Amino acid sequence: MGRLADEEEQIQNAKDIVEFQHYFAALLDRMREAPEDNIISDLANNTIDEGRLLTKPEALGMIQQILVAGNETSTSAIAGGVVLLIQNPDQQAMLRQHPDLIPAAVEEILRLETPTSGMWRRATADTEIGGVDIPEGAFLMVRFAAGNRDESIFTDGGAMSVARENADSHLAFGQGTHFCLGAQLARMEMQVALTGLLNRTTDWALVEGKNPLKHSPNVLLRGLTDLHISFSKTIS
Ligand code: HEM
Repeated sequence: MGRLADEEEQIQNAKDIVEFQHYFAALLDRMREAPEDNIISDLANNTIDEGRLLTKPEALGMIQQILVAGNETSTSAIAGGVVLLIQNPDQQAMLRQHPDLIPAAVEEILRLETPTSGMWRRATADTEIGGVDIPEGAFLMVRFAAGNRDESIFTDGGAMSVARENADSHLAFGQGTHFCLGAQLARMEMQVALTGLLNRTTDWALVEGKNPLKHSPNVLLRGLTDLHISFSKTIS
């Protein structure tokens, strides 16, 4: 999606995806023969609509979506959160003093980072948004990241406040029918990561000269290309 891969890499990517599909197609077959208590087994055996099983392409599409959607996004959110807390030492100090604020801090990080910064939409009816006419059938790129800094909703929206009361009104997980399936898992992952990092390490700093803080060029996902931090251990 960042259009960074050259032709050779694109061919390798396509081969990797085929390998991925073969791996999961075999797993779906195994789960159909001997169901287990897991999500792949559910996709293999549960029926939809008129009582039919999912086709293999449908089930493979969903597995790919779950794996991709749940990986880079959570990673970027945690890394971006660490940078925000380094850049806002007062907020980091408050969090260390009041760990009960960690769930609220997670929402504030999601708001400011918005790891899925936008998503495509197609208008199903003529409508109007903020004075702009949107005709039926128009393709839109809805920018969650821009909405998350809307000053009419978030006072001083560019600033980090781990105690912001309405931080969870953010759009980082989208909204409506396609609201993120993994939102609660992602929130939990971020809370566990932040709690562990804050408890076990201190003196966080960006390593000088090694952090251009560049984001991968990508119309959909927002994440740092790399991050180098130094810290001291508080627990051995
Ligand atoms: C910080 C982490 C995450 C962020 C920021 C994020 C963000 C989003 C966003 C913005 C959408 C699109 C909603 C839309 O189209 O309006 C979405 C959909 C989705 N996410 Fe996440 N996500 C995260 C973590 C996860 C995890 C951990 C999983 C799975 C384990 C996951 C699975 C999905 C799936 C399957 C969809 C598609 C839902 C649908 O189309 O009905 N996401 N996510």
